[in-house]
Amino acid sequence: MKTTKRTFRRATLMAAAFGVTVGIAARADEHRFAATNPVWQEECGTCHIAYPPALLPAKSWRAIMAQLDRHFGVDAGVDAPTAKTIAAFLETNAGRDRRRSSVGLLRITETRWFVREHDEVPARVWKSPAVKSAANCEACHMRAAQGDFSEHTVKVPR
Ligand code: HEC
Ligand code: HEC
Repeated sequence: MKTTKRTFRRATLMAAAFGVTVGIAARADEHRFAATNPVWQEECGTCHIAYPPALLPAKSWRAIMAQLDRHFGVDAGVDAPTAKTIAAFLETNAGRDRRRSSVGLLRITETRWFVREHDEVPARVWKSPAVKSAANCEACHMRAAQGDFSEHTVKVPR
């Protein structure tokens, strides 16, 4: 399978670059996200999967939490104590700000790493009835709801 071949190539490259043989394990763990919180899971995991905090920088999470009542065309508003709990969890576990831009990026699917990691997915697949939106991670990442985005659990629908 193509995925397997790619994994192998990457692991080999890593081994060559760093002179190590543990490349496979290290690589896989990088895309399993363990951070979880019951309030976040409940409030942010109903309309879509609860997106792992590590996939956006704290600045983006702050911007998202500041306008939950106007959230991508829907009202996802929660009461103030709930918002505070979720915001703290998201910011504590946020990813690095790789872009260093001052404009708060709101979409994981618009980050540079996302576009790069998904460049092999053909345009028609994103629009297909089985996927509908790039934000629909679990259409392809079978264990996305468990925070698992490893390449071993990806299956792109035809
Ligand atoms: C009432 C439904 C609803 C709830 C609740 C909700 N969202 Fe969303 N969210 C949406 C919709 C709709 C989109 C846009 C999906 C699309 O473009 O396909 C979205 C998109 C997003 C995106 C961008 C995904 C991308 O394209 O990369 C993030 C990040 C996000 N939501 C975070 C959250 C967080 C954090 C919470 C909890 C505080 C939350 N959402 C709760 C409906 C919801
Ligand atoms: C149309 C199918 C599809 C959708 C939808 C999709 N992905 Fe992916 N994703 C892939 C494919 C294919 C790869 C490349 C796997 C590989 O490296 O062989 C990938 C790779 C990744 C990787 C890197 C995995 C690794 O180990 O290299 C991450 C992280 C990721 N996706 C996160 C997401 C998130 C978060 C979402 C939703 C916001 C999402 N993906 C939506 C198909 C998809």
